[in-house]
Amino acid sequence: MGRYGERQAEEVSATDAQHDVVVIGGGPGGYAAALYGAGIGLDVGLIENNILGGTCLNVGCIPAKELLETAHVFRTVQHAAKFGVNASEPELDWSVTLQRKQGIIDQLVGGLASLLKSKKVTVYDGTGSLGPNRLVTVSGADGRQLTITGNSVILATGSQPRTIPGFEIDGQLVVTSDELLSITQLPASAVVIGGGAIGCEFASMMGDLGVNVTILEALPQILTGCDPDATRVVERSFKKRKIISRTGVMVGGHTPSADGRSTTVAFGDGELIDVELIVMSVGRRPYADRLGLEGTGVQLDDRGFVVADGRCRTGEPGVWAVGDIINTPALAHVAFAEGMLAIRDILGEEPTPLVHHGTPWCIYCHPEVAFAGHTEESAKEAGFDVVTSKHSFSGNGRAKIVGETDGVVKVIAEKRPDGTGGRILGVHMVGPWVTEQLGQGYLAVNWEATVDDVAAFIQPHPTMSEMFGETIMSLTGRSLHG
Ligand code: FAD
Ligand code: NAI
Repeated sequence: MGRYGERQAEEVSATDAQHDVVVIGGGPGGYAAALYGAGIGLDVGLIENNILGGTCLNVGCIPAKELLETAHVFRTVQHAAKFGVNASEPELDWSVTLQRKQGIIDQLVGGLASLLKSKKVTVYDGTGSLGPNRLVTVSGADGRQLTITGNSVILATGSQPRTIPGFEIDGQLVVTSDELLSITQLPASAVVIGGGAIGCEFASMMGDLGVNVTILEALPQILTGCDPDATRVVERSFKKRKIISRTGVMVGGHTPSADGRSTTVAFGDGELIDVELIVMSVGRRPYADRLGLEGTGVQLDDRGFVVADGRCRTGEPGVWAVGDIINTPALAHVAFAEGMLAIRDILGEEPTPLVHHGTPWCIYCHPEVAFAGHTEESAKEAGFDVVTSKHSFSGNGRAKIVGETDGVVKVIAEKRPDGTGGRILGVHMVGPWVTEQLGQGYLAVNWEATVDDVAAFIQPHPTMSEMFGETIMSLTGRSLHG
């Protein structure tokens, strides 16, 4: 038996390995398809060549958020005296942090394995590659192979970090998220190349834990895609915490010191910075490298994504693709949704394609950012006449109690002839716990609710969600505290 009680290559002959659905890749896209399909009664085989849970559970969402939570606890202890709780200066025991992070991963991966087993999903430990007629070859690490067929096949092989020329990943001076999440000692200083979701989360985490961090971002703002009103709040908070963000700069290369303990990064107009660590967070690339695909109608686009339609169907009949391997938002919850959508399509339910414009985004840097739908700019570009309203957390009772009042809720709505708001087009939040508050905004945008619909609902008091209620209400032309 293999790691998860799965069948090993030699245990199954080519003739008896036939499933309703064969899924290649055991990350969120693949395991969601497997669990959902098996729950409906399909016989599912799932192939994973590394660790179940994929990027998300092992080197993505879960460990990154755990380390950010450590940073949160550190900040809380630093500021405890403001609450009359006198604690000594916090000291970080990074080895305990790493153990806690790994413990959470292990529990989640173990839970997933048990769930798959209880739903009778057959898990194959090996690399899956697809040939014609939905024939999948599973190659074990020991070189043994078996072939299995699926009435339907789902490709869910995810993505991998990418880097840029001049910054080879060596795991010492230059790392990606994969290495940083298990680094045995935090550096004194770091450059984070790329100020997107990964860059800002890591910069925030390291900055709070005492690392001197500089973000080097090529575009004019960090967190491109977020409403600039939200980004400004993050930038201000980073600045207060001495996390430097340099935007609109290109990086040249880097020159390690003679002792190999630090390196000098060249960027912008001849500027240099000495750091102990370079973190590359310039995006990820789809990972179809070991999928085979010869003789099939599955196509890759010029960036390496598997080409799929709105129902995740590829060019090969009976073959779907979900998650980071296709060109939709590279998020675990999108992968989950696509995995389930593919199963529903396999069952002939003709599911409605996902509308990615309304996808919820949550970024867990401090302060957190969360949004769904149009920014003010994108709504105008799409031809909407818009009206917006913004409310700051500085007036919110719960935010004051928690001691975190940096933040804004902004709602973008279609403008009615009388100047009030009609349909809600976008909800953008930055501030305390907004990743837990976005739910109402997500529903409002995707339900195509109007300002009047939502203003009629009661928000519990005292909560931070009162800011959402207040912002919506002011778009009706009336207000309570505003
Ligand atoms: P993956 O999770 O990459 O899983 C693919 C799996 O397929 C892997 O286990 C791989 O080993 C396996 N595989 C690959 N090729 C083969 C093959 N040929 N045969 C067998 N197995 C194969 N998203 C969020 O929504 N929220 C977050 O907070 C968040 N934080 C993130 C933080 C970091 C640092 C990173 C890197 C990513 C984060 N993401 C987050 C993105 C999220 O992790 C991905 O969108 C998600 O994991 C994609 O799921 P997937 O199933 O498509 O691919
Ligand atoms: P990203 O696409 O979010 O950001 C990459 C950034 O690097 C961009 O701002 C880009 O302009 C910049 N960049 C690219 N080349 C550069 C160069 N040569 N010099 C300087 N800057 C450069 O990619 P990231 O942060 O690597 O994350 C990958 C994906 O993982 C995200 O897009 C997201 O889908 C997912 N993710 C989601 C999270 C969440 O939901 N909380 C957290 C982390 C990742």
